[in-house]
Amino acid sequence: MAATRRNQSSLSRAERRRFVDAVLKLKRRGQYDEFVRTHIDFYVSDGDRELRVAHMAPSFFPWHRRFLLEFERALQKIDSGVTVPYWDWTKNRTAGGSLWGADMMGGNGRRSDRQVMTGPFAHKNGNWTIKEDVTDGEFLTRDLGRSQDPVDLPTAQDVEWAMADGRYDVEPWDSTSPEGFRNKLEGWTSARGKERWRNHNRVHRWVGGHMLGGASVNDPVFWLNHAFVDLLWDRWQRRHPRSAPYLPARPPELGSDQYQRIVARHEPMPPWDVAPDALLSHKGQYTYGS
Ligand code: CU
Ligand code: CU
Repeated sequence: MAATRRNQSSLSRAERRRFVDAVLKLKRRGQYDEFVRTHIDFYVSDGDRELRVAHMAPSFFPWHRRFLLEFERALQKIDSGVTVPYWDWTKNRTAGGSLWGADMMGGNGRRSDRQVMTGPFAHKNGNWTIKEDVTDGEFLTRDLGRSQDPVDLPTAQDVEWAMADGRYDVEPWDSTSPEGFRNKLEGWTSARGKERWRNHNRVHRWVGGHMLGGASVNDPVFWLNHAFVDLLWDRWQRRHPRSAPYLPARPPELGSDQYQRIVARHEPMPPWDVAPDALLSHKGQYTYGS
């Protein structure tokens, strides 16, 4: 039977505890840090002249779908009743919500060094030491809302702006793609200042600290953001049943700037030997509930 991913705001105390406990157990076994490492290794930007599968590329959605599935399966080996909850940031928009409670994600970073001091992922509570990172801090950091230069979480209108676009993705298939659902929801724009980040990217900015870069998986809220992004991808497909569900259908040709730098619908995405086409639906694996 397909498991149901629930809205984090409707989890009971016991359900929150089971999710958090499974994550902590995965961390203790060293497996959590393998997920962090994978994400760091695939954090390739479109300035790099190599294959991009995870970000700034059409396969942003299927790559993260598979990544979440791997994570969820690892959790389910620990507790078969656990699924990854999603965070609807168009509705749960404050640093004071239950998401940031001491029995869930824990709270904001403190002012001096942005160190998270409360909850299961506070270093001082003994269960969450950062091991895979680009810098050397051992503790998880956050700066909810970006205190120095505040940003808001994306709104329902921001999501609608992406959702209304009936093309999955457009050339040049990177962070500069001017149209298309993929880049509008991933959230790169040519605007200046805070408008540069929309939707998914804006959420990473709003949480701040570890959520800012390739090592963002160190903050477990990463998974809750990406579960919601995955849900929105579903919603887009349902809204545009006549659109090509993935583009490009064929690889860019020799001579194209994106030649061998992005994957087409039937090409495999590393580190898995699976093509976007195989991930367009998650029927039978999980569903989204309220
Ligand atoms: Cu990512
Ligand atoms: Cu992300």
